Amino acid sequence: MNGNIIVVGSLNMDLVVNAPRHPQIGETILGGRFATFPGGKGANQAVAAARMGAHVRMIGCVGEDGFGAELCKVAAQDGIDTSHISVEKAEATGIALITVDAEGRNTIVVASGANLSLSPWHLHTAKAAFSDADVLVTQLESPLETVSEAIALAAQQGIRVVLNPAPAQPLGAEILSKVDYFIPNEREAMQIAGTDTLEAAIEKLLALGVRNLIITLGEQGALLVAGGQRTHIPAYPVKAVDTVAAGDAFVGAFATGLAEGLGLEAAARLGNAAAALSVTRPGAQPSLPLRREVDEFLGDKK
Ligand code: ATP
Ligand code: RIB
Repeated sequence: MNGNIIVVGSLNMDLVVNAPRHPQIGETILGGRFATFPGGKGANQAVAAARMGAHVRMIGCVGEDGFGAELCKVAAQDGIDTSHISVEKAEATGIALITVDAEGRNTIVVASGANLSLSPWHLHTAKAAFSDADVLVTQLESPLETVSEAIALAAQQGIRVVLNPAPAQPLGAEILSKVDYFIPNEREAMQIAGTDTLEAAIEKLLALGVRNLIITLGEQGALLVAGGQRTHIPAYPVKAVDTVAAGDAFVGAFATGLAEGLGLEAAARLGNAAAALSVTRPGAQPSLPLRREVDEFLGDKK
């Protein structure tokens, strides 16, 4: 069964420099290779899901420039329906300045550009795109008003909602109670909950109405908190060279699993496997694995 996934989110061109380490404030260091990669959390999660076999439609905005044209082209090459990606004449396409250190750890600064133009109007114009969706996937690189409207539209139509709250910002019960699967990393969970510990964050998020909480834990895998139970799903041990888009690989594969009818734990295992493969390769979208690769990887683990 191939599921239908709608992604409401960002598209960025990633400008990536590899460096031996991250610079201190005020410090200049010499880096290594520079490369551009298609990225943006929305587009990465759309590509991750498409490569896992889902039918994917994306709603988002780019500028009328070379980066925007390239991002739409590569998304379409992965079979994504890009007809609802709007070209905003007055804006530049979003970019992300990324530094990756020798251990594969990254820092990212995003200039959102056209992504900030994505409005509820765009969603209503593309309302037909919601009609046969099984799962909505969205993040916080788009205006909160639009993310909130996408979640409300999906919830009204019985479409399951996956929210990856990255980058973190305060969220209330109004949004959280409509989300079916909430997938922060550890730091985002604590930032959104406004707590100093993960334990306190879990309690607060549950109190705010989160039903299925999936906390990604980097090389530790993921913690599932749902139905009064906690389940730790360990990561697959790999040699990480670049963790950019690891979270996106997890979310895209997890959503594909849900759309195929998998349960929470099985979908999280699929997420861990896709994310493990992604961290062994450089770049955002170029690192995202095909379903065949994930199935082979999991086959070798049996
Ligand atoms: P990023 O911002 O780097 O895309 P994130 O902070 O959103 O990632 P993480 O929790 O770091 O998310 O990682 C997401 C998932 O990627 C993890 O749940 C795990 O499955 C996988 N992962 C990340 N790092 C590793 C690693 N070193 N080895 C194996 N799997 C990893
Ligand atoms: O999650 C990784 C993504 O975050 C990068 O591709 C970058 O564009 C930023 O949006």
